[in-house]
Amino acid sequence: MRDLIQKMPKVELHLHIEGSLEPDLMFTLADRNNITIPYTSVEEIQRAYQFTDLQSFLDIYYTGAQVLQTEQDFYDLTWAYLEKARAQNIRHTEIFFDPETHTDHGVPFDVVIHGIRQALVDAEATLNISSNLILCFLRHKSEDLSSAWQTLEAALPYKDWIIAVGLDSSEVGHPPERFVDVFDKARAEGFLTVAHAGEEGPPAYVWQALDLLKVKRIDHGVRSEEDPALVKRLRNDQIPLTVCPLSNTKLHVFKHMQEHNLKRLLDAGLCITINSDDPAYFGGYLNENFYAIQEALDLSQTDIIQLAQNGIDAAFLPPERKAALTAELAAVFNTLGQGT
Ligand code: ADE
Ligand code: ZN
Repeated sequence: MRDLIQKMPKVELHLHIEGSLEPDLMFTLADRNNITIPYTSVEEIQRAYQFTDLQSFLDIYYTGAQVLQTEQDFYDLTWAYLEKARAQNIRHTEIFFDPETHTDHGVPFDVVIHGIRQALVDAEATLNISSNLILCFLRHKSEDLSSAWQTLEAALPYKDWIIAVGLDSSEVGHPPERFVDVFDKARAEGFLTVAHAGEEGPPAYVWQALDLLKVKRIDHGVRSEEDPALVKRLRNDQIPLTVCPLSNTKLHVFKHMQEHNLKRLLDAGLCITINSDDPAYFGGYLNENFYAIQEALDLSQTDIIQLAQNGIDAAFLPPERKAALTAELAAVFNTLGQGT
């Protein structure tokens, strides 16, 4: 089974580039930029990565992100992720970035996006990985939307480089409805929309993301299961959920992987995909997420192939590229899979 997971062509749809910052690179960039971080060794960092909930993680994640200062830093960060992606046979990736995390500390939007973009262009040419970029607004700033508006304004010259806007950060107390005007404007400017919802927040937030923000995908969405009418809606409209198993257990959304509801949601006919969220913080990249959930829930080869196919179907890609990836996946399954 691990052989199949490793070898199948994969798509990743929920990856925060700042969440791929490994401790080694964090130290290198802190040194390079003369920034003090509250750790002296990799072991100390690993001890700090014991989270109790989403907020306990975000506090550490935003501190880590402060070592990112220059275009080269953003290039190095993105390139390191893309090399991992290549090694894991990820063929297409849709990457979140949080501009406000950087602009709030004086790093210009242009620096952030140019560094990330150059790595994506180079990866397409030399690693054979295609990609899209998704700009996320920080929802913990929902009391004062001027930051989100400024961020959208800064993104307009880069419309060709950014496929969608999303919503992330502390969920509870920051409902999607507060961002309806920003998302209306983003859609009018041609961006697609996605949103984190139903990670820690209630099903009502998922409804709002669908009905008010008109999202094409829900990021996480695992709490949707609590509302049968919502499950029906997600199934009927085939709205993909970008589920992140290791994230969910690290942040105590589920205490144990065996309690994860992914298999029930898949069996209910929802378009479930597997993703890594913040791999440097949660103990694994995409393959490790597949291994962990497969083993905990005893998923069959058919389940695994379905999850990989859902990733292709849910991507913001033209039909020809989806067809090519689907054919690659079928070829691997025919060689390795026994159809169980
Ligand atoms: N930012 C980075 N990872 C996140 C997550 N899992 N939920 C919300 N915001 C995030
Ligand atoms: Zn996320």
